[in-house]
Amino acid sequence: MKIHIVQGNIVESDADTIVVNLFEGATETGGATAAVDQALNGMVQELISGGDFRGRLGEVGVIYPRGAIAARRVLVTGLGKVEDFNLEAVRCASSSALKKARELGAKKVASLVHGAGVGSLDVTDAAQATGEGAMLGLYKSPKKYPEPWDTIETLDLFELEAQKLPAVEQGARLAQANSQAVYLVRDLVSLGPNIITPTYLADKAREIGSKFGMKVTVGDRAWAAERNMGAFLAVAKGAEEPPAFIVMEYNPGRPELDTLVLVGKGITFDTGGISLKPAEKMENMKDDMAGAAAVLGAMQAAGELELPLHLVAILPCTENMPDGRSYRPADILTASNGKTIEVISTDAEGRLVLADALVYAEQFKPKAVVDLATLTGACVIALGNWVAAGIFCNDPALQEKLVESGQRTHERLWPMPLWDDYRPKIKSLVADMANSGGRFGGVGTSAIFLKEFTDYPWAHLDIAGMVHLEQAQEVSYTPSGATGFGVRLLVDFLRRWR
Ligand code: BES
Ligand code: MN
Ligand code: ZN
Repeated sequence: MKIHIVQGNIVESDADTIVVNLFEGATETGGATAAVDQALNGMVQELISGGDFRGRLGEVGVIYPRGAIAARRVLVTGLGKVEDFNLEAVRCASSSALKKARELGAKKVASLVHGAGVGSLDVTDAAQATGEGAMLGLYKSPKKYPEPWDTIETLDLFELEAQKLPAVEQGARLAQANSQAVYLVRDLVSLGPNIITPTYLADKAREIGSKFGMKVTVGDRAWAAERNMGAFLAVAKGAEEPPAFIVMEYNPGRPELDTLVLVGKGITFDTGGISLKPAEKMENMKDDMAGAAAVLGAMQAAGELELPLHLVAILPCTENMPDGRSYRPADILTASNGKTIEVISTDAEGRLVLADALVYAEQFKPKAVVDLATLTGACVIALGNWVAAGIFCNDPALQEKLVESGQRTHERLWPMPLWDDYRPKIKSLVADMANSGGRFGGVGTSAIFLKEFTDYPWAHLDIAGMVHLEQAQEVSYTPSGATGFGVRLLVDFLRRWR
């Protein structure tokens, strides 16, 4: 589906389906919806007055104009209560309408920019949310014989006032770049680990890189060995599948731009290694590269949007497998900064690959480093599934920016303590630190471990609970399965940097 901007009255649209909106409990239509109602001789009003439609979020009323206007059908999407109205409501309302339109066989849809008129939201934000809700809700995960799901060809966003058009245009541009990137991430996380190997991710990085003039380096075992990446290499030891330490650089060699580094955990399958995981639900560990996928998606969107930043992505990618060559509990590793690590559990592999990635980030002299990782089950225990990712941060201003972007995008972050109290719990008799601090405070000890490898403003996002959704919520734009979490958060953060 392509999004277009149209200046004019939506009543005059040549689309087969028109989407207007209504707040919950409204007794009269307003704004552009009122104009449509008028053209329909009060059919929208009748829908409300009769109590057939109440404007609840997710509710979609269908009207057949029977020639009163050109469109075959008019969908009235509920915006929910005025007092609860925000960008998230816009996304949900837009998503509900477009899913209904597809169900009814629509090919061309015209929609109001929800919230830009009566809702008094920022116009760019409202257009972005309308577009994202529409595109993201329609997604279906790749199947072996994919049924076509992208059957709506165009979405026309209508705006009457000329002075608002550039803002709508900008919102639509953001929506398309973000949604395409989220589609990519959902595909990458959905597809099996035999397909989405480190090599596959490296090829994808090269593909994105060549499209946007990024410099892409893919380090193999020998490359990593030359750089003394003992922690990353240890995790890769048991894997037959070649590991890939992927580095992408957007706008390299432009000292006038701020440098930001994004790091993503890229374990393409996490069996736990010699500390083998139980068989039950192990298939979910294909998600363990969702951090790397989100960063890849953010890089694609950044390229598409031509963000004025020197952006670096670092993606340490490997499987974590049990094998005769695997690393073992009790092994003592030396990371690329010379620090030694006693392995307690080979299942605490994420922090090991991140350790070398975080050290590698330092050479870019970054203004900030943000890592995304499906790091701990403990974070899911603490914050729940599909509620919030944990954020650990050593810089209050950076944390505030990220938390705010989380609110705006509804990819929410909740602050967790990066306190030295966790440090004694990963003490080792034989190395600088252990890679696990046991069950209690498992999310805190993972973060304090990572801190040993950072030397710049840094935020660690534990996204373990956010990358997969067993059962989609009734009103939402995130279908069951891979969520694509992180792209919209990162793009909002990058776009609003400074
Ligand atoms: N990839 C897992 C974390 C995970 C768990 C992600 C559940 C998504 C859902 C990670 O590598 C892991 O195994 N962590 C261990 C750490 C422990 C051994 C210290 C965990 O959380 O149990
Ligand atoms: Mn693990
Ligand atoms: Zn893992």
